[in-house]
Amino acid sequence: MKALVDALWAAQSLFVLTGSGISAESGLPTFRGVGGLWRTHRVEELASPEGFARDPVLVWRWYNERKAAHARAEPNAGHEALVRLENVVADFTLATQNVDSLHLRAGSRNVLELHGNLREARCTQCDARRPFEATGMPLDRIDHDCGGRFRPEIVWFGESLPPAVWREAQRAAARADVILVIGTSAVVYPAAALATNYNDRAFVAEINPEATPISDRVDCALRVSATEILPRILAALESRKKPIDR
Ligand code: OAD
Repeated sequence: MKALVDALWAAQSLFVLTGSGISAESGLPTFRGVGGLWRTHRVEELASPEGFARDPVLVWRWYNERKAAHARAEPNAGHEALVRLENVVADFTLATQNVDSLHLRAGSRNVLELHGNLREARCTQCDARRPFEATGMPLDRIDHDCGGRFRPEIVWFGESLPPAVWREAQRAAARADVILVIGTSAVVYPAAALATNYNDRAFVAEINPEATPISDRVDCALRVSATEILPRILAALESRKKPIDR
């Protein structure tokens, strides 16, 4: 942990990549761990354009359930520590693969949502948007007048990441002095590439109780939960570094 705190203390630019593990202690399941969503649900039915075309009601039922679970969850000490981290590093970017909005609800500002969000629905044909309310998408209102269908604003398997968001994430990863990779199995590309593929100069740290395919390429692997270590890192950093006057 000391090596990471030292690197953060000296950093002018920080890039953070998060995955579902950071929300695990808010009570939300991950995808691939024990109890993970992709262990009990069929990804090709629920998270692909083909699955949506086949059975949009099934897909919306599932996202309505997920949205309800997100609404019941609260940001945890890991999300909150990242809000504080934004106040101590001048150039801070948080790219998340999560669609649970917990970073935004915690108060993080410079957030890039790589895989979309569950706050909006978008028409498959004309791109019209409508809010995806906390009460859920009414299942009799999926069809749009233009002949298309409203779908969740999520990046599904086989689809590209939003180009502007991806470009910004790539640039932030490339210019970072420190890259923090938190709570992701680092197996889903291109998001996982942000950890190690665009910058061979940064100090890269992984926070994850389990090893991942990038573990042997990082400078420091902290095998602990995010809520356990992030508040400690912040306490150590704040005792040395003054908050930035933005
Ligand atoms: P995964 O389920 O693949 O990985 C979650 C990771 O979090 C695992 O490596 C766990 O060891 C770790 N973890 C669990 N609890 C933790 C804790 N308390 N603190 C820190 N780490 C913890 O989830 P993601 O990597 O987020 O995409 O999955 C990436 C993408 O795959 C998701 O965005 C989603 C999914 O398919 C889409 O839906 C497009």
